[in-house]
Amino acid sequence: MENAGGSYVPESVINKLNHFMIHTKVQPYGLYQPSIDATQAIEKSTCLMAEMINATHSEVVIGHCTTMNLVMLSLALKSWFMPSDEIIVTNQDHESNISPWRRLAESGQKIIEWKMNSNNAELDIAHLESLLSNKTKLVCMTHSSNIVASVNDIKKIADLVHANGALLLVDGVSYAPHHSINVKDLNVDFYVLSLYKTFGPHLGLLYVDKKHHDKLTNQSLEFMPKQYEKITTPGSPNYLRIALNPGGVNHEEAACLSGLTDYYRLLHGHHFTKNKESVFAVVEDVFKLIADHQAKLSKIFIEYINENNAIKLIGKNESDTNLRSPTFAFTLKNKLSCQDVVKALAKRNIAAQAGSFYAWRCLEALGINPYEGLARVSFAHYNTENEVHLLCQSLNEIL
Ligand SMILES: Cc1ncc(COP(=O)(O)O)c(C=O)c1O
Repeated sequence: MENAGGSYVPESVINKLNHFMIHTKVQPYGLYQPSIDATQAIEKSTCLMAEMINATHSEVVIGHCTTMNLVMLSLALKSWFMPSDEIIVTNQDHESNISPWRRLAESGQKIIEWKMNSNNAELDIAHLESLLSNKTKLVCMTHSSNIVASVNDIKKIADLVHANGALLLVDGVSYAPHHSINVKDLNVDFYVLSLYKTFGPHLGLLYVDKKHHDKLTNQSLEFMPKQYEKITTPGSPNYLRIALNPGGVNHEEAACLSGLTDYYRLLHGHHFTKNKESVFAVVEDVFKLIADHQAKLSKIFIEYINENNAIKLIGKNESDTNLRSPTFAFTLKNKLSCQDVVKALAKRNIAAQAGSFYAWRCLEALGINPYEGLARVSFAHYNTENEVHLLCQSLNEIL
């Protein structure tokens, strides 16, 4: 029940990790067989991760994590901004999509905060409209907050932001474990997600639309004088991953990512009779099933919350995962602290978490002391209805 913090990994991923460590744990991109195999595994995974979100190989970076990807992206975009340019950030986001942009104030950019509606914690599009101006260069926001969990209408916001001549960056970390992501259909300029929350190893996936590669200043080092010039020119196929990941990808973790798409294919084969060629089409089908299952899990929990006076849920009482991710942060109306409840759940072998979840601005806006925090449970597709019933029953006993 702590899936928003990190998800379990299927055997197909673990087997590929083992295989890499046993048979191909050498320097990749060499000319001997184990090295060639290592290279192929890494490249295949990179292609599959791109395909999984309907992007191309040259448009993705497999970085250390989302925080690191966003820090690198902000540094790479720094010299693209003009001194009076405006960047809009929200107070609903995880700090990793706020701090890197706020830091640019030091180089003259003006940071504007798109605040949540204080009545319902939602990000109102009408409010964004009032903040956009011809100085706005970039809007940074979450697809679904790790606290409020409402699904923001990214397509609509992308239209609005683009009509104002600005770019849109979306943090999909809390959304991606529950839905397929189609970056082209969403019409976003930048998109990030954490692969360790979508059933893979501890890595982050960053997408940058190829039409923006020339806006990014290379952050890599001058490893080779001539080659450096050739491969670090925007437009070269490897530009993005060199420019935004100076230390290079984690070999074994990247190599095992093809196990993730194998897993989706296995799920697809189990539930559907007609095979599909494209990875994206497979993932899309699988996540429709996942959404239906998770809506059932959410409904059980929402019904419990509606009947329980001791719990105050953050965000809407909504079980449709197109409207709310199955992540439920709450405070308590009785004297127990959130830490107490999480400890009591742990004694019953139920994993939950308490804290600010690095979204302290969101907590402050909700009137919650970030040091006291809130409690959070979050479901993934492998959770069962019985497990959610057990969670509710346990909360009943504790509260
Ligand atoms: C919504 C959201 N954005 C960003 C992050 C940061 O991701 P990472 O741990 O990959 O840096 C998290 C992590 O919890 C998150 O929940």
